[in-house]
Amino acid sequence: MTLFSEASASRQRAHLARLQDAYTHLLDEHGFDAVAIYSGHARNQYADDQQASFAGYGHFIHWTGTATHQHDWLLIRPGHSPHWCYFAPADFWHLSTPAPVGVFADFMTLTPHETTGSLPAPVASNGRLAVIGDVASLALPEGATANPEALCHALDELRLFKDAHERYCLFVANQIALEGHRAARTSFAAGGAELDAQLAYLAATRQRESELPYQNIVGINSHAGTLHYQHYDKYAPDKPRSLLVDAGHRYLGYCADITRTWSASETDPLFTYLTEGVTDFQRRLIARLAPGVDFVTLHDEMHQHLGELLVASGIVNTSVEAAIESGLTRAFCPHGLGHSLGVQVHDVAGRQRDASGAPLPPPARDPALRLTRTLETDMVVTIEPGLYVIPMLLEPFRHGSQSSTVDWTAVDRLADHGGIRIEDNVMITYNGHDNLTQGEA
Ligand code: GLY
Ligand code: MN
Ligand code: MN
Repeated sequence: MTLFSEASASRQRAHLARLQDAYTHLLDEHGFDAVAIYSGHARNQYADDQQASFAGYGHFIHWTGTATHQHDWLLIRPGHSPHWCYFAPADFWHLSTPAPVGVFADFMTLTPHETTGSLPAPVASNGRLAVIGDVASLALPEGATANPEALCHALDELRLFKDAHERYCLFVANQIALEGHRAARTSFAAGGAELDAQLAYLAATRQRESELPYQNIVGINSHAGTLHYQHYDKYAPDKPRSLLVDAGHRYLGYCADITRTWSASETDPLFTYLTEGVTDFQRRLIARLAPGVDFVTLHDEMHQHLGELLVASGIVNTSVEAAIESGLTRAFCPHGLGHSLGVQVHDVAGRQRDASGAPLPPPARDPALRLTRTLETDMVVTIEPGLYVIPMLLEPFRHGSQSSTVDWTAVDRLADHGGIRIEDNVMITYNGHDNLTQGEA
């Protein structure tokens, strides 16, 4: 074993020990003797025998590091090693699931099981049993409690804080995703279409689409203005102006979520100026990250920066305060500054006050903000400001009483560039932060 893998194994063991301790404490607090965690399963498409791609339940990934296992169960009981019943039916249509191996598997008792629809024998009948996951269609033992809300909120809270193993996984996922971003950029620079950039990304990161933590967003020109643009054009436009790539990777279950925006031969200099401006204030927002910083306040600071950039560029000719007050900056960027990141790309617990699950909703003006908490050490968040030309959001301003406060000729020049987003993944440390998205894309 190399020094590197020795360190990695010891981080994994510490992660599992941390979960074992935390679950022991939480099961006692919430009145359960055991919790059975279901990995989930893919569903058939309607009137078909084919299935969409699948990603497992977050709490199962938290323990096992795998997002691909279906029909698996994990039983956690204080004082016992976790019991992982992995689904391995006798099946000549598919390759049999091999027994899990590695540090996680060594830490657990492993049992193969062959049936779906109910809990396998080693997991069922364990006193006051909580069963969590996508179990609505399954037969549960009598007396078991499905998805008890208070316990689930507390387990979500546990996921918000990342230990050394988790932070390392997020860092590695970022390193690999950056390789993909470089390949996508090179493909675009060579005249490639959206599909070429996507395929270059997948090849460079050695993954198939079904393994991605979310569907990559690869938008050229006006498509960059659709926040979750979901297609891949097969042909490049005659006039390439911009490329926005929001693309990730999973490493041992943990997700990278990185966005970069690139100019091209036909780019309007105003778009390049704005891209540099967003990149600059994204760095300034990252520089603010530290324990005790309120994320809603930081989101408001994004709008302050955005307003300043819109005014400095001449697109908006009113005061920054007026642009924010009227909702104009939110028409240029309707999404939140960022979210928690972990085994899910939009990770849990971002909108609860604490382990009690008391809601912490976003302000009415920012319904899409997924993180409303005060930052604490060991959280990992994305910082992803944007600036887009989204006609349906800008039209009310174009035709409203404040129409003269916007240079619509400039907006129209930008429209075929779609938009800009710059997104990094950042860990909060006891005295500041550490950017996990290290290196050029
Ligand atoms: N990739 C989706 C997001 O940035 O939140
Ligand atoms: Mn993203
Ligand atoms: Mn994101």
